[in-house]
Amino acid sequence: MAKINRIGVLTSGGDAPGMNAAIRAVVRSCSYYGITCLGIHRGYNGLINGDIVTMDARSVNGVISRGGTMLYTARCPEFMTEEGVKKAIGTCKYLGIDGIIAIGGDGTFRGARDLAAHGVPTIGIPATIDNDIASTQYSIGFDTACNTAQDAIDKLRDTMQSHERCSVVEVMGRNAGHLALHVGIATGATAILVPEKELDMEQDVIEKIRLGRINKRSHFIIIVAEGVGSAMKVAEKIKEETGIDARVTILGHIQRGGSPSAEDRVWATRMGEYAVTGILNGKSNRVVCVVNDKLIDMDINEALEMHKDLPNEMYLTSKMMAV
Ligand code: F6P
Repeated sequence: MAKINRIGVLTSGGDAPGMNAAIRAVVRSCSYYGITCLGIHRGYNGLINGDIVTMDARSVNGVISRGGTMLYTARCPEFMTEEGVKKAIGTCKYLGIDGIIAIGGDGTFRGARDLAAHGVPTIGIPATIDNDIASTQYSIGFDTACNTAQDAIDKLRDTMQSHERCSVVEVMGRNAGHLALHVGIATGATAILVPEKELDMEQDVIEKIRLGRINKRSHFIIIVAEGVGSAMKVAEKIKEETGIDARVTILGHIQRGGSPSAEDRVWATRMGEYAVTGILNGKSNRVVCVVNDKLIDMDINEALEMHKDLPNEMYLTSKMMAV
């Protein structure tokens, strides 16, 4: 097994609260093992351009509680070309980088797979507020994003209740409804619209609001996952069919910011250490996953082929609450 002296760490794709905690864990684990840690800026761009700094244990002081990513993040079209990958490999050789830890989502893991295929050991750490990575039950950032959205929607509820209105709230999630489902249950939503389930506007939304009115409900919260389509259209339909004043709030990027929750800090710390120890033990082309509440690692190619369903029992429970 080749000796590992220098490990690089990068964040790529959309940021997620807890990425800093993961970076910190990678840096501190490297210090613990007595090896050098290099911070790569702006995802795979930094590897192509050589935008890289040495990180010691003190360089990550206090970042555990900060949202965002101190290494910056970006999507990198150049890295999707053979030429881009070659440049990145050249940087690794030039700087003596013996392994890379890539923090992000599926796009980040595809990059890690390409580096591994060219002989640079890689391990991916799942971080996305969408929690849509199929190989892992949990991705860094999801819990914080749920709490941020919950906090905002609790505030919306106060004013919706006073004015007897309907709040239509669009939450992030790209093509997945995990964030919407969790947030919808946590905020007692009347309906949760997710891309994984076919939408019957009349039955899933209008009927529930009519029934709620009969049952003396004063206000309504409807959660729309961004992958479903326009929250504006949903609100217009509600107004048209029920006469209720429906207001739209798009939570947007506030869901990606903020100080990470304890849950995110702990998983991020554990995953960061797991990844460094894995590289030192000769692992490559692996992704760190939470399965049955335990950390394991999986082949990146296998992980990328997996499909994640929305937990159906949770979806059914959410529907039973809207009476
Ligand atoms: O993947 C995280 C995410 O926040 C998605 O929920 C959303 O669709 C997307 O990123 C937004 O990306 P950007 O910040 O590039 O607009």
